[in-house]
Amino acid sequence: MRQASWFAPHPPYALKGEGCWIIDVDGRRILDCANNFFSLVHGHAFPPVIEALRSAMERGTAFGLPTESEIELAELLAARSPFLQQTRFCNSGTEAVMHAIKGARALTGRHRIAKFEGCYHGAYDYIEVGLESSPDNWDGPDGSLASTPYAKGTPPSVLTDTVVLPYDDAVRCEAILRTCGSSLAAVVLDPHASRAGMMPMPPEVIAAVQAACRRDGIMLIADEVICFRLSYAGASPLYGIEPDFVTLAKVIGGGLPVGAVSGSPERMSVFDHSRGKPAVAMGGTFSANPMSMAAGLATLRHYDRSAVARLNGLGDKLRERVNEAFAANQSPARLVGTGSLFRLHLGGREITGYRSSYPTTAEATALHQIHGALLASGILLTPNCSGALTTPMTDKEIAFLADTLTSAALKTSGWG
Ligand SMILES: Cc1ncc(COP(=O)(O)O)c(C=O)c1O
Repeated sequence: MRQASWFAPHPPYALKGEGCWIIDVDGRRILDCANNFFSLVHGHAFPPVIEALRSAMERGTAFGLPTESEIELAELLAARSPFLQQTRFCNSGTEAVMHAIKGARALTGRHRIAKFEGCYHGAYDYIEVGLESSPDNWDGPDGSLASTPYAKGTPPSVLTDTVVLPYDDAVRCEAILRTCGSSLAAVVLDPHASRAGMMPMPPEVIAAVQAACRRDGIMLIADEVICFRLSYAGASPLYGIEPDFVTLAKVIGGGLPVGAVSGSPERMSVFDHSRGKPAVAMGGTFSANPMSMAAGLATLRHYDRSAVARLNGLGDKLRERVNEAFAANQSPARLVGTGSLFRLHLGGREITGYRSSYPTTAEATALHQIHGALLASGILLTPNCSGALTTPMTDKEIAFLADTLTSAALKTSGWG
């Protein structure tokens, strides 16, 4: 079982999915707000995806040759954003981020990277640094943030070669980048990181990073693995970022394994193998496999401007209804997020990033209880009480989710 899909005392086992609902092996219907960690923007068994998969499967599931479907998906992405002009596919967000970092290293001739404290970008050693920084170890010397290891056995060189930046402190971020900018190959940035509270990165921090990247020739990697869904063109245009590389995964694979690195032809030439050995080889037995491409194409074709706007509107309605109820009950709890992405915070303090969203022990216990209470009422969130909406949802599901979530939070001791 994947670590991420286990929670105490034990998760239910899924039997099948129907739109925004999961039916578990005991026959219970569960409103799915985790949708495989935000990867199924149309929910389960979306008919256009099933049809596309059936037809792709009948033609063959994997070839040692390219297929037209990868060109179609790359062209569809390019038509949506100027930052997605060329795309190469892989099988996961982890791989996408790793390849983008390797591309940045080859382009700059440097090897260090910077990333933001607490933010998750997959399982590549370097990008795991600072993932679980906690109040007792998160500050380093001289105003720096500690480069804390995540996995036991992380080589010490990985820690020295990874600089950790504050998500919501532009002054400190700019000072750190001034000190080390000329040694960096890349800054990896998710402008709406779930682990930083599911709050947008403050524009001043984005501006500080963008300025340092231009000044010191650092490659800016925008990780849109989750936040691509926030707008038709993805997150970079939404948050005023001009990235060198964009990493994608999740929704662009329509429920099948996928990852992608996108960028301008100039930047993407680092992976170009057409004139001999590329600077960085971006291989993978199942990369750009026709099943993931077909599911991704069917998904994105139906995630058009109006579908994006409708889904984001449902998210606004959800937050409004929940927060009005919290306010009416003098509860400090708040539902935050943007568009179809949301997360529950209990403490009443202002949430601006990783540190302010770091739950106290009491909050973590209560969030665990709320997650369990919601599941008992037929709603699945991720274990830290964040979630994502899907297009099969209507006002009815939003009302059910809002009211059940509010009452579970209010009933949990100490937060009502
Ligand atoms: C922002 C971000 N980047 C990268 C990843 C890694 O993607 P994958 O799980 O497909 O390897 C994730 C996974 O949740 C993610 O949230």
